[in-house]
Amino acid sequence: MATLAWDKKTWRGKKVQQVPVYQDENALKAVESKLDTFPPLVFAGEVRRLKRRLAKVSAGQAFLLQGGDCAESFAEFNARNIRDTFRVLLQMAIVMTFSGGVPVVKVGRIAGQFAKPRSSDIETQGDVTLPSYRGDMVNGMDFSDAARLPDPARMVDVYHQSASTLNLLRAFATGGYADLHRLHRWVLDFVDDSPQAEKYSELSARITQCLQFMEACGLTSETIPQLRETEFYTSHEALLLQYEEGLTRNDSTTGDWYDCSAHMLWIGNRTRNPDEAHVEFLRGVKNPIGIKVGPGMPTDDLKKLLATLNPENEAGRITLISRMGAGNVEKNLPDLVRAVESEGAKVVWSCDPMHGNTIKSDNGYKTRPVDRILTEIEEFFAVHAAEGTYAGGIHVEMTGQDVTECLGGSHNITEEDLSSRYHTHCDPRLNANQALEVAFLIADSLKKQREKWSDK
Ligand code: PEP
Ligand code: CO
Repeated sequence: MATLAWDKKTWRGKKVQQVPVYQDENALKAVESKLDTFPPLVFAGEVRRLKRRLAKVSAGQAFLLQGGDCAESFAEFNARNIRDTFRVLLQMAIVMTFSGGVPVVKVGRIAGQFAKPRSSDIETQGDVTLPSYRGDMVNGMDFSDAARLPDPARMVDVYHQSASTLNLLRAFATGGYADLHRLHRWVLDFVDDSPQAEKYSELSARITQCLQFMEACGLTSETIPQLRETEFYTSHEALLLQYEEGLTRNDSTTGDWYDCSAHMLWIGNRTRNPDEAHVEFLRGVKNPIGIKVGPGMPTDDLKKLLATLNPENEAGRITLISRMGAGNVEKNLPDLVRAVESEGAKVVWSCDPMHGNTIKSDNGYKTRPVDRILTEIEEFFAVHAAEGTYAGGIHVEMTGQDVTECLGGSHNITEEDLSSRYHTHCDPRLNANQALEVAFLIADSLKKQREKWSDK
C-alpha cells in the first residue's frame, strides 16, 4: 500500500468531528502562530523512552496504569490537586507492582486533558438551547451565550497551565517526593478508616522492611536512583487538532515528528474513523497512541487503524483501550482480540472500565457504580486469560480528592451522597479510596496472570 504524504496540516483536508467552529478566523490564526513558537512541553527522547516501556507491556513484562481527570479545568488548578492525583497514582502503582511482580508504567491523564468530545452539539435547559460545553480548552461550562462561545485564546491558557502542571509533576517524580522510603506517608487522611487503608499500611510495612534489609546491604536512595525517583508520563485525548498541530515539532536527532503536547495521545471512541482527520493527524507523529475501542467497533476498522497508525508493527506504538461496559466484554472483546492476533499486531491491551458504565442516578447525576467498574475489569482479565493474550493495562478517571461522584465502594457512596462533593467538569471519577480499591483488585488479577506469563 503506497503511503500518502503527511505533514502536520494534512488533517485539515479530511472530514473532522468534535472540533469547534471558531467565529473569529483571525483570532484563531493568531493563536495558532503563537503555539508554533512555544517551547515543547515534552521531549522526543522521553517519548521514545515511554514507547520502550510500553513495548515491554505488550510483551507481557510490565503493566500500564493510566489515570486522572475526565477533564482538567482552570477552576480546579492548584498544587494540592496535582499532588493528590500524583500521590494516588503512586499508591496504586505500588500496590500493583508489589503484588503483581511487574513494573508499572505510570501515565497521567493530566497536563493537557482539557478538550471533550460530546454526544450532542447542543444542550437545552428549559427553553434555552446553547452549544454544549466542550472542555475548558474550547469554551466555558456556565450556561450562557458568552461562556459557550468557542474561544481560541483558551488554547494558550491550556498550554501555560499544562507547562506548570508538568513542572510540578517532574519535581514530584524526581525531587524526593516519590522516594520509596516515603511510601507510608503518601496515605491521604480520608482514606484512613477504610479496608484499603489497612491493606495499604500492611503492604508499606512489608516494603519498608525490604528497604531496611537493602540498606543494610548498602543499597540506599543515594546509590540507587530507582528508589528515590520514578518515571511519570503525561497523556490526553488528541481532540482539538489545532492545539496538537501547534505543538508538533520535528526532532532534530531523528528527523521524525513528535506531538510535544504530551508523551502519549489517544483517539477517542467518537473520532477513530480511519478515514477522518484525527487518525490522519496521529499517523504522522511518532508518539505512543491509544485507541479507544467501544462496543460495535467492526474488526475491519480495527485492522485498518492498525495498518494506518502502525504500518511497521512497532511494539509500544499502539495501546488499545477497551471500554465495553460490564456485561458486554465477553460479547465484544474476543473478536477484536482475535483480529489483532490474526494480524500478528503488537499492541498493549488496556481496560477503561469507566466509559461503558456511566448511568444517570434517579436524582439526575451522571454517575458510575464501582461494582460495575470492578466487574468490567474482571471480565477483561477473564477474556485475555481465555484467549491466551496479555491484559496489559488499566485506564481510569480518578482524582486524589474525596469526591462523591461514583456510587458504592467501601465507603458505600449512595445516590443521596452524590450531591455532597460532586465536582467533576465532565464524567464521574473514582475518589482516592475507590481508586485504591481498583488497584487491589487488579493486583490480585495480575498475580494470577503473572503465574502464567512468567514462564513464557
Ligand atoms: C474519555 O476518555 O474521557 C472519553 C471521552 O472516552 P471515550 O472516547 O472512550 O468515550
Ligand atoms: Co470521560
